[in-house]
Amino acid sequence: MNFSLSSKAIASSKADCLVIGLPEKGTWPDSTNQADEALGGLIKTLHKAGDLTGKNATTVTVPLTDQPWSRLLVVGTGKDTDRSPANYRKALIAMMAALKDGPSKSVVIALADTPVTGEEAVSSETALLSLIGRTLEDQLYTFSDYKSEKPAARKLNKVVVHASSAGKALKDAFNLGLATGRGMNLTRDLGNTPPNICHPEWLAQQAKKLAKDYDCIKTEVLDEKQMEKMGMNTILAVGKGSTQPPRLIVMEYRGGKAKDKPHVLVGKGITFDTGGISLKPGEGMDEMKYDMGGSASVFGAMKVLAETQPKINVVAVIAAAENMPDGGASRPGDIVTTLSGMTVEILNTDAEGRLVLCDALTYVKKFDPAAVIDLATLTGACIIALGNHATGLLANNDDLANELLAAGERAGDRAWRLPLWDEYQSQLDSNFADMANIGGRPAGTITAACFLSRFAKDYRWAHLDIAGTAWHSGKAKGSSGRPVPLLVDYLMSHAGK
Ligand code: BES
Ligand code: MN
Ligand code: ZN
Repeated sequence: MNFSLSSKAIASSKADCLVIGLPEKGTWPDSTNQADEALGGLIKTLHKAGDLTGKNATTVTVPLTDQPWSRLLVVGTGKDTDRSPANYRKALIAMMAALKDGPSKSVVIALADTPVTGEEAVSSETALLSLIGRTLEDQLYTFSDYKSEKPAARKLNKVVVHASSAGKALKDAFNLGLATGRGMNLTRDLGNTPPNICHPEWLAQQAKKLAKDYDCIKTEVLDEKQMEKMGMNTILAVGKGSTQPPRLIVMEYRGGKAKDKPHVLVGKGITFDTGGISLKPGEGMDEMKYDMGGSASVFGAMKVLAETQPKINVVAVIAAAENMPDGGASRPGDIVTTLSGMTVEILNTDAEGRLVLCDALTYVKKFDPAAVIDLATLTGACIIALGNHATGLLANNDDLANELLAAGERAGDRAWRLPLWDEYQSQLDSNFADMANIGGRPAGTITAACFLSRFAKDYRWAHLDIAGTAWHSGKAKGSSGRPVPLLVDYLMSHAGK
């Protein structure tokens, strides 16, 4: 697909399809007026006749003859007063639904001058171009690697987005949006790949591939022998129930100054979670292939960095293992010494995410991080608490928590904070070891984070529980690409100018 920005007058653009926005109530954007003029008042006529309502996220295709465009796609953009970035994105998604399998090969999209409500960071033309870029890539996503019959080739191959200028700031914003969409799509590809293919070593190979594709990414992979030498016994304990050995995958992007402390991303990479000996019920177990969603989002964010080259240092660490109930598997009651030296009584082998993450959290101390953010499909309880709309956020630092919440708001990829009060810690008491790996039914998301917090004392740390947001269930089953937009927004806000 060829994407570009253009600031040429609408009337002098040429494409199979021209896309304009039409408010239900409010002032028509300049581009809509320009198109109406070029079409001799056609839009006004159809609007008056009631054929075009402008209701948000509706689309109407109008065939044209003897014009620079074979058709006009009118996207309803709702009321000026009610056009939040989220509503505007709904209109963009409706536009993409109309375009993606349509007959047009080339399209000019004139929607970046539609006014959106909200602060500058989400309503400026740069913000809208970034959102348009991201939505273009993200809505064109398909995953058909494992279908023998491939979907018919897409006709659309050229997208020109109309902007007030094609200057550097707008281009950069548009390109960041496109890169974010592609990052999300990498995350989705990894998540959707079946678990007989996507195992820990396969994930390690994907990291090596990223390092090969982009010179600015360096990768190191620790195998089970190296982890044994170091004492990463909890990752090993989780991996022991599988014939697929665990891996610790490190990726580094160093675009900042040598002395800038890195932001560290830690991803849960359970490539399949059967629960182990504490076996999960069968229904819906296939979805546990998404239990590497945290690591998939780390991959997505790294790809965005590699493509856009911001001035920031970022280290990614992925704790990859498969949680299976083979003969070597951990038993409920096993006690394991973590990399930190603290001991853990594994009371439930299905609480494996925190076991692989705790050693990774200890390991990342060596990078002297500016902050550590871990991403994990950690608890079913998070879905009970927040459903599928918000990522759960827990942190040992208020500033970091607030930054991530704000990044999620701006990116339309929201998180919601839960408390990490000391009162919850005692739920992890064990009679036999320093702690148990489960804290009972009450506040399951919080006690999981309490467990992690014990390994994250030496730096600013936040935990994102993406159990409810990393994938969609039901008919639209598939990886969502979240929370790549949140991560990218956060990291970009820390990049040097
Ligand atoms: N990967 C699961 C969490 C999960 C469950 C994510 C359902 C998405 C949907 C995690 O490893 C797990 O099994 N957690 C247990 C923890 C419990 C044993 C304390 C859970 O949530 O039931
Ligand atoms: Mn589990
Ligand atoms: Zn899990």
